[in-house]
Amino acid sequence: MPAPTITLNNGAKIPALGMGTVFLDAGGDIQKTIDAAVEAGYRLFDCAAFYGNEEAIGTALKNNGIPREELFISTKLKNGHHRFDDACRECEKSMRRLGVDYLDMYLIHFPCPEHGLYTEAWKALEHLHKEGLVRTIGVSNFHKAHLERILDVCEIVPAINQLEFHPYLTIEPLREFMKKHGIVTEAWFPLGGPAVRLDGKDNPDKEALFGEPVLTELAEKYNKTVAQIILRWETQLGIIPVPKASSPKHIIENISIFDFEMTPDELEAISGLNKNRRFGPSGDECNEYWD
Ligand SMILES: NC(=O)c1ccc[n+]([C@@H]2O[C@H](COP(=O)([O-])OP(=O)(O)OC[C@H]3O[C@@H](n4cnc5c(N)ncnc54)[C@H](OP(=O)(O)O)[C@@H]3O)[C@@H](O)[C@H]2O)c1
Repeated sequence: MPAPTITLNNGAKIPALGMGTVFLDAGGDIQKTIDAAVEAGYRLFDCAAFYGNEEAIGTALKNNGIPREELFISTKLKNGHHRFDDACRECEKSMRRLGVDYLDMYLIHFPCPEHGLYTEAWKALEHLHKEGLVRTIGVSNFHKAHLERILDVCEIVPAINQLEFHPYLTIEPLREFMKKHGIVTEAWFPLGGPAVRLDGKDNPDKEALFGEPVLTELAEKYNKTVAQIILRWETQLGIIPVPKASSPKHIIENISIFDFEMTPDELEAISGLNKNRRFGPSGDECNEYWD
């Protein structure tokens, strides 16, 4: 059963939950993962040129046979390509790798403020939208100051800002600002990120998060897992989580969250876990990925 949809500030409908794809092909069978995801009801696939797997995902979706119009394919402009012409070329390269003739959504991956070119990149995204190549445009990892600069120059207000978000990082002031402008939050690291860090060590913060009594007690009450409680909290806040799962059990579990609803007090109790704890890079960082 596909996830329900929500309506963006441009009238487009986006699934309320999607599938993260970072490292999806690392040691796994990407076709099996994509087939399991489509079968479970995922329609939004959150890709990025930076992940290096657009071609594999595009091929797997094509092989799966699901009609293109049922999918919501989103990808991101890699750092280092914020000049207008370059950004347009990069978008077309992503489309070629994904094997599509339009994108449902295209995001600027990071503002890279040290380089000061993200407003130029935004103009390129507006152009791509006007050309009909991209249906919805947005940003990722943009803080208030970066969004303000975009809002000063834009013809089209970003529909989405994809940000690190989980119970330990609820970024309320930024979300409040975005709400005023009709910008929806999409959550990366919606489950606190990978259980094992890139250096091969366990992520102790994730273990702590999954052991939080507020979450374990709600999991017991609703007969759900802690991951399902976190994802349902996010969707009830109007946030679109894009959890990545390679295990078939997790793939099914993560989308099986639309059959229960928590109370406002319960949502608030989860939001109360906030520690302003960032597990990944902020929007002022990541300039180092600049090619
Ligand atoms: N815009 C950005 O800058 C940015 C940055 C980072 C990530 N992202 C996007 O956000 C997506 C999600 O981030 P992420 O994959 O790093 O972190 P995540 O979704 O928070 O966590 C993924 C980890 O959680 C595990 N997991 C999944 N479902 C689970 C469940 N039901 N119970 C217990 N564990 C579960 C996965 O294990 P298994 O794989 O073993 O199932 C994997 O180890 C990425 O794939 C990417 O698309 C965007």
